[in-house]
Amino acid sequence: MAGGSDAPPPKKFKPNIPAVDRSKLKKEREALPTWGVRQQLVDEIKQHKTIIVIGETGSGKSTQIPQFCNEAGVNGKLIIGVTQPRRVAAVTLANRVANEMDCEIGTRVGYNVRFENTTSAETTIAYVTDGMLLREALHDPLLKRYSLVVIDEAHERTLHTDIMFGVVKRAQKERSLNTSAMLPQLKLVVMSATMDVDAFSAYFDDAPVYFIEGRTYPVEMFYASKLDQGAAQDYVYNSLVTLLQLHKTEPVNDDMLVFLTGQEEIESAVRRTREISRNFDGKKRLEPIALYAAMAHQAQMKAFLPARQPNTRKVIFATNIAETSLTIPGIRIVIDSGKVKMRSYQAKSRIDLLRVASVSQAQACQRAGRAGREAPGKCYRLYSEKDFDKFTSDTQPEIERCSVSSVVLELLRMGVSDVMSFDFMKAPSQEALKAAIRELRLLGAIEDAETNEDGVGRHFALTDVGQLLVAFPIDPKLAKVLVAASDLGCLEEALTVVAALTHDTIFVTHSAKRAESSNARRKFEAPEGDHVMLLKVYRSFAHVKKTNDKKALRDWCQENFVQERVMQTIVLVRSQLRATCVQLKLTFSSCGNELDKLRKALCCGLFVNACDYDPSADGYKLLDSSLRVKIHPSSCLSRSKPTAIIFTQLIMTAQLYASYVTVVDPDWVKDILEGRKVQLFAS
Ligand code: CDP
Repeated sequence: MAGGSDAPPPKKFKPNIPAVDRSKLKKEREALPTWGVRQQLVDEIKQHKTIIVIGETGSGKSTQIPQFCNEAGVNGKLIIGVTQPRRVAAVTLANRVANEMDCEIGTRVGYNVRFENTTSAETTIAYVTDGMLLREALHDPLLKRYSLVVIDEAHERTLHTDIMFGVVKRAQKERSLNTSAMLPQLKLVVMSATMDVDAFSAYFDDAPVYFIEGRTYPVEMFYASKLDQGAAQDYVYNSLVTLLQLHKTEPVNDDMLVFLTGQEEIESAVRRTREISRNFDGKKRLEPIALYAAMAHQAQMKAFLPARQPNTRKVIFATNIAETSLTIPGIRIVIDSGKVKMRSYQAKSRIDLLRVASVSQAQACQRAGRAGREAPGKCYRLYSEKDFDKFTSDTQPEIERCSVSSVVLELLRMGVSDVMSFDFMKAPSQEALKAAIRELRLLGAIEDAETNEDGVGRHFALTDVGQLLVAFPIDPKLAKVLVAASDLGCLEEALTVVAALTHDTIFVTHSAKRAESSNARRKFEAPEGDHVMLLKVYRSFAHVKKTNDKKALRDWCQENFVQERVMQTIVLVRSQLRATCVQLKLTFSSCGNELDKLRKALCCGLFVNACDYDPSADGYKLLDSSLRVKIHPSSCLSRSKPTAIIFTQLIMTAQLYASYVTVVDPDWVKDILEGRKVQLFAS
């Protein structure tokens, strides 16, 4: 990557996973359900362009099938790419397989995830996040490096996985037509724990389905009975109470996995458990560990190590990251809150929001299954059997419940100009596609291209701005903030703010020290709003970090109730975004304390989220829809009433809240719209 970054280059990460006994590994491989059917699997894959493999978690799909194909030479001289929805799964699987193949990571086996690509010319099996493979496909839609793509965890139906289905199908077709490129057929294996097999098979031209028997142990189920409504909603509190009760009675070697919904509540549960466990000194101890997607690799790896001290129970507080893709040794007890943080999108009001929702029955079953991977286990559900019956049976694909602006940009980049007729496994609604096209037009990212000869179907093309936006793996609105900041002379500040926005929060919320933590936070509050507040925190953090004094940095974070781990990840994300800006030849400059420049840049990307104060409702009215919102109580503007604001995201709790808010001048929004010659919707 080009130089010039203000952050140190990401360190090569070597997971600190204990060395494994090779003969034990061999025995474990041979005991897996996939082992007995390896020849049939390889034969099926050789015979068909696409096959679907269904098997219980732990049957050996992710670790073994790529190895069987490699051993049988299915991939020829090209690579087997195995996609994972999550970074941590890609890394741990690659490590496990490298161990089994007795090689170093980065040689025959590697992984390619955000911040780190360990694949090399020698690599034949690459574990990659679906997002990274999609990024690769933007520049190489035929996926020329690969002869076999394995799309794993297909049941999760993440946005990237769904797009990859269509992208691989398209590459398969084009490679079979384009024989001049001398590319072998592109094979596809779609793997999943449980899923709607018929729909998958039909989409992949009646691909055969191969079922693998599971190997799991019984899990005893316990349901919450008479929780009153209020108590039932406080699932974090209920999880802790359940955990402490079980800690008294269950053997200390039975580790626990607690499913919560997000970074903030996980960090707070970890802290509370740590405090409580101090009272257990000398007796059975608790070692609480956080596990969620936005954490840095090293921190995530702690979940995979045994407890640090004897007579200690490991308790992992995780999001749905631990639902299917990960094998965490030692887990015998699962506590399931029944909740998950979900994106949901209402195309009509063009509102993309994050909210806590009930899991699907399929997710609840996967969660329970984590207790029975290595031995019989127990699952404590913090909801009743009746509640379970009311959950939807399957998780709704993400593509149906999020904004598809970035999908449209990516498809256009891959040369799919008629995005409306792309062969989606599950197409987004026409309304969602139209809203995405409209937003991208407002951002100046796309323009009309020619219409089909028969006049059917609208075709679009990326503008120069669109070419820049698609290079960033972030929401196009935030990418536009960076591009605008380059013109306005505040790219350094915008990079910091955009990187910080990749996390729910940078602050520690401490229920026991609420007054102290709000005092600490107040130091950073800014009349301009939350984005400037983020900048102030980062600047102070970076100032202390520069001294290379680890203790001083830790102390600073503690004093200011700032999460050090989150800040360190933000430093990495920032350097990654900065490297992309270097590649795109954007102009780097700092606006110092001329923060209007930063606010204008933010406005250039987030003007679609502009709101006016509405005194009659003591709230805000979105310019682009008839929705009314309030400023989130955690915002530093929650007590003021600026005339016009922009926000980054909506949060739905008891009501609709705008979070990460900045004060803007209404004229800025007007100027941008005049420049775009597009009007926002009238309310
Ligand atoms: O993909 P599937 O869930 O069917 O199974 P897998 O991920 O291939 O895991 C098969 C077995 O390999 C697990 O039951 C673990 O014993 C082991 N494994 C592991 O120890 N560490 C990993 N990172 C992945 C798998």
